[in-house]
Amino acid sequence: MITDDFEKRREIITKFAELGAMMLPVEEFMHIVFLNFHAEIEAELFTIAEQHQIEPKNEIWSIFEQAVDQCDFDHPILQAVFSNTLIRQLIGPEYTIFNRYPKVYEYLLRKKPAGEFNIAVIGCSYGQEIMSMLKCLHEEMAKNPDFSPKIDIFNKPTSIFQKVQTNIRYPESVLKKHLTPQQLAVDFTVDEHGSLHFSEAFYQRMGFYELDLFDVPHEPNSTKQYDLLMIHNVLQYLEPSEGQDISIFQQQAEAAFQWIVQQVKPSGMVSIINESKKPNDFVAELQDRIFNQHYACTIVKPAYLYTKQAI
Ligand SMILES: C[S@@+](CC[C@H](N)C(=O)[O-])C[C@H]1O[C@@H](n2cnc3c(N)ncnc32)[C@H](O)[C@@H]1O
Repeated sequence: MITDDFEKRREIITKFAELGAMMLPVEEFMHIVFLNFHAEIEAELFTIAEQHQIEPKNEIWSIFEQAVDQCDFDHPILQAVFSNTLIRQLIGPEYTIFNRYPKVYEYLLRKKPAGEFNIAVIGCSYGQEIMSMLKCLHEEMAKNPDFSPKIDIFNKPTSIFQKVQTNIRYPESVLKKHLTPQQLAVDFTVDEHGSLHFSEAFYQRMGFYELDLFDVPHEPNSTKQYDLLMIHNVLQYLEPSEGQDISIFQQQAEAAFQWIVQQVKPSGMVSIINESKKPNDFVAELQDRIFNQHYACTIVKPAYLYTKQAI
């Protein structure tokens, strides 16, 4: 049966994502993805429908649902959706959840310097980690009105990051579960459809920078260094591209690590988490070699927290 119902279609896409994500909770994640990208996802499905001579194109939703329900991985529509570049980008390496590492954030805030606190976050997905970190920062700000942290966010250019910088929307039902009413009131505004957007106050605290770790600037950043740099579940995505000369890949990875080191103040910290999948062997070896040379390490599972030695 064909349905043009928004909720129904989101459920279908959610079930599809669950096939790939196994037991991880994807429901809330997909609420955010689908709210922001339902038109793009449907356009990709309609292109697949055309390629498979499905008429009317709307039919693809029910064919797709049936294949997902039956876990029919050989089904040509399921295969086409699995290999669709945009859909993979929207729900693959961008996957994350709210309040994923509360103990890590707690520890990092206990170690924060007394004065200004400049944080860099590399890899922000749909903003969940920034909001989770900001929740802890708000608690600190409530205790100390002079505490005014700044967060710079770096991510490779993607359609998701573009939205986070300008007009991403969140379902209130999802954010209400994870953020305090105070944080919601400060960091968000509500639009006419009842979706939440980042507020002016939020954007004033944040800097957004497009940066592909595989293409870092050669000139060191001399203007700003950070007290804390978080790079959580990003290094796993540094892989050689298909057919790439391995020595080029290794140079790019070395440059990425050197760039990370340069961004941190002499007594600053780097928090690295590689939870969702093992990084490439060369990248794991670089993490050991570069950080163990320059930094003292504390483990607050699953984070490796490196404190740069003051020289
Ligand atoms: C799994 S998400 C992690 C989000 C968040 N740090 C967390 O742990 O919840 C991975 C993020 O890294 C970004 N990313 C992947 N490869 C990257 C690269 N080469 N340079 C910069 N960002 C990258 C993705 O776009 C995505 O936002």
